[in-house]
Amino acid sequence: MKKLIDLITEVAEQGFEACGYDKNLGKVTLSNRPDLCEYQCNGAMAGAKIYKKAPIMIANDVVGKLAEKTEMFEEITAVNPGFINMKLSGVFLAEYLERMNGEEKLGVSQKETPETIVIDYGGPNVAKPLHVGHLRSAIIGESMKRLCRFLGHQVIGDVHLGDWGLQMGLIIEELKERKPELPYFDEDYSGDYPEEAPFTIGELEEIYPAASAKSKVDEAFAKKAHDATYKLQNGNRGYLAVWNHILCVSVADLKKNYEKLGVTFDIWKKESDVQGLIPDMVKQMREQGFAHESQGALVVDVSEETDAKEVPPCILLKSDGATLYSTTDLATLVEREKLFSPDRILYVVDKRQSLHFTQVFRCAKKTGIVRPKVRLDFLGFGTMNGRDGKPFKTRDGGIMRLEYLIQEIGDAVYGKIMENRSMEEADAKETAKMIGLAALKYGDLSNQAAKDYVFDVERFISFEGDTGPYILYTIVRIKSIQARYESLADHYEREGKILPAASESEKALQLQASRVQDALLSAFNEQAPHKICQYVYELSNAFNRFYHETKIMAEEDKERQAAYIRLLCLVRRVLETCIDLLGFEAPDRM
Ligand code: ARG
Repeated sequence: MKKLIDLITEVAEQGFEACGYDKNLGKVTLSNRPDLCEYQCNGAMAGAKIYKKAPIMIANDVVGKLAEKTEMFEEITAVNPGFINMKLSGVFLAEYLERMNGEEKLGVSQKETPETIVIDYGGPNVAKPLHVGHLRSAIIGESMKRLCRFLGHQVIGDVHLGDWGLQMGLIIEELKERKPELPYFDEDYSGDYPEEAPFTIGELEEIYPAASAKSKVDEAFAKKAHDATYKLQNGNRGYLAVWNHILCVSVADLKKNYEKLGVTFDIWKKESDVQGLIPDMVKQMREQGFAHESQGALVVDVSEETDAKEVPPCILLKSDGATLYSTTDLATLVEREKLFSPDRILYVVDKRQSLHFTQVFRCAKKTGIVRPKVRLDFLGFGTMNGRDGKPFKTRDGGIMRLEYLIQEIGDAVYGKIMENRSMEEADAKETAKMIGLAALKYGDLSNQAAKDYVFDVERFISFEGDTGPYILYTIVRIKSIQARYESLADHYEREGKILPAASESEKALQLQASRVQDALLSAFNEQAPHKICQYVYELSNAFNRFYHETKIMAEEDKERQAAYIRLLCLVRRVLETCIDLLGFEAPDRM
């Protein structure tokens, strides 16, 4: 379905054209004076210069034409010095909403030529605890994935596990010190290795930080961990077996955690998968003259004349021949081209990695690893801070475990529900989980991604204000009105239709509901889920104002009452669709 604002623009353009003016002057925007009108067109102001005429004269011409020709407007006026102000006709708006109601996806147009989009998000590191950065990536990436898919694109969500770095060598070396008797460390062992991992996830989580801390103070240990990493990367059988255990134990735990967050991936690719592609890739870059030696390392220059700040070369191999994070990301691009030939790849990663991606993207384009038309996008996000303004930590100053964070916010909501009303304990627990997740995700997504924000449980779980629970509360309120309506003895006998608004607040609600497509498209175009949050918040406000000003259940005109209910159904569908794109859902009661 066309957006309402585009339909209005078309009519305005016809108006300009019919009066002999350039039709492109007919662009319509949302009113910036909602007290005066709903939409406006400022084309006459620009036309004044072209036609050497007072803008108000042009505006008057166009308004005269439109007023006689179209039924789209309840009111259209030219005001000094030359604005055209418009109020939509109630009939036209109600019909538009009815059409939306009949469409499966609320009339949101599906892309005629869908793009294939790979979204690289999550990005956890095997065996290292998930930290807040990974949380943000998961939440924002999941929302972008759902949004792209909703608009009809072909989307592949890839978790891109970090499983090939030094952390592996650290764990292997630490394990070797603790349990030297394990067969993995016996160079002469040639039998099968045990199927069972020599550690649990709990132990693994303790081993990594211990090893990491040790490597900082114990040089000999650090060296051994490096060597272990090297051996692993060069195919040491025993180390590969340990690595495989680490991977299995870790991935099972990660899956559990992501499931709690309502985050899913289409593919679980990992850094190690593309290591085999590196030698050929590097060879080609050398042969084609892109790669050259610099201080012993092999690099590709990626600086551009217009760079305000110097962009250092992209390093492919260190002087000892070791590969780096950038090498792996480049090889991953080789693989993605081969597997998916995507139109776009979107990376949802901490904005502090922005330079890394600038280098990788430029290198990939310059060397032809990806076709010129492929869009490589970086959606960099800011830090989630605690109330002290520093990166968020647990109460005892440790790294936050995602599980505990989800638990903490769920408990806070549970306490609140139990304080307020008498819900069965089990129901309250389930409901609290749903609300908690909404609070967490909305608290994150409602901020512009690139900005840092403060994680404030109290504020996030509030039922009032710009919060997830407020949006859920609005939906629950609509559900309860619907239920009460269903239980009424005297219904309107026919299926209701949305009627032209009977009040100013109903009109405002209708207008806001009609704009869902605008919100979703701008969230997609700007890769900005916070636009969806802004929209649902405004829609919820419009609904609640309407609700407080309108006696729905006591309405005597049954046709009017049925129309209200039908409008509410639509508003609920719009809200539910949007929160699904944000990655959470509403309970039945709260
Ligand atoms: N594992 C990385 C980290 O923890 C994030 C991976 C992001 N994705 C990528 N293709 N580099 O920082």
